[in-house]
Amino acid sequence: MGEYAAQAKLAVRNAGMRYGDRVALENCSFDVAPNTIVSIVGPSGCGKTTLLWAMSGLHNLTDGQILLDGKPITGPHPDIGLVFQDANLLPWRNLMDNILFPFEIKGQTPDRDWIEHLMERVQLTGFERNFPRELSGGMQQRAAIVRALSLRPSVLLMDEPFGALDAFTRDEMNKLVEEIWMETHTTIVFITHSIEEALFLSDRVVVLSPRPGRVQSEYEIPFERPRTMEIMAGKEAYDLTYRIKGDIYGHQAKKLAEAKG
Ligand SMILES: Nc1ncnc2c1ncn2[C@@H]1O[C@H](COP(=O)(O)OP(=O)(O)OP(=O)(O)O)[C@@H](O)[C@H]1O
Ligand SMILES: [Mg+2]
Repeated sequence: MGEYAAQAKLAVRNAGMRYGDRVALENCSFDVAPNTIVSIVGPSGCGKTTLLWAMSGLHNLTDGQILLDGKPITGPHPDIGLVFQDANLLPWRNLMDNILFPFEIKGQTPDRDWIEHLMERVQLTGFERNFPRELSGGMQQRAAIVRALSLRPSVLLMDEPFGALDAFTRDEMNKLVEEIWMETHTTIVFITHSIEEALFLSDRVVVLSPRPGRVQSEYEIPFERPRTMEIMAGKEAYDLTYRIKGDIYGHQAKKLAEAKG
């Protein structure tokens, strides 16, 4: 392990996962530097969610390990927050009671000022007493982000958090994540199918190969923040998109060619 690995917030080391005969992940290694955003992209079924669950401590790998601040993750950890594609709000609880739910379970006292600040930051102030069914999909996802950040995790894991939202709302949510990151510098691991989203948000993009997922390539994203439309529509962003898509779709083209003989 080099110097960089020693400083990693999260270090994925030869991660492998088998479900019976099926190998979902194989020999997967990469680092997530502290206070950065790293996106993981790759074809459907290549093991992204499997990897994220292992990072969260919700399930164990069958091979290798993941280190948080140099220590193996063996179970759910208070330093790690999670946001999924579905906001998973309890329908019978209003928004604030949903946000306070993890504190109730853990028997912890919530930091009301911090929660109020987060609510304001994601523009949910005034909706505290509304029930999930009274909120749009984007609002529900914003509530899920507040719920995760209210516990002040040092790592936030996000699994396609905006995959179910329309393109405009997704853009707004990406801006919001950028703003939150610029304020908190929380280390974020972000899974997405959208190369555009990955480029907008990330300091580094990790591309996984088709199942069994392995690290196929990694890209540094050099753009300053906040990232403007000009940056994202520029030649450098275009070239990166082209290369990442080439990595992902190259496999499919190869498979097709082999099938045709
Ligand atoms: N609990 C499980 N039991 C058996 N197989 C599983 C289980 N969870 C995932 N798999 C398999 O592992 C592989 C990787 O799944 P995973 O959900 O991690 O992929 P993914 O990259 O997140 O896909 P997507 O982009 O569609 O969300 C798939 O082939 C899936 O069928
Ligand atoms: Mg998934």
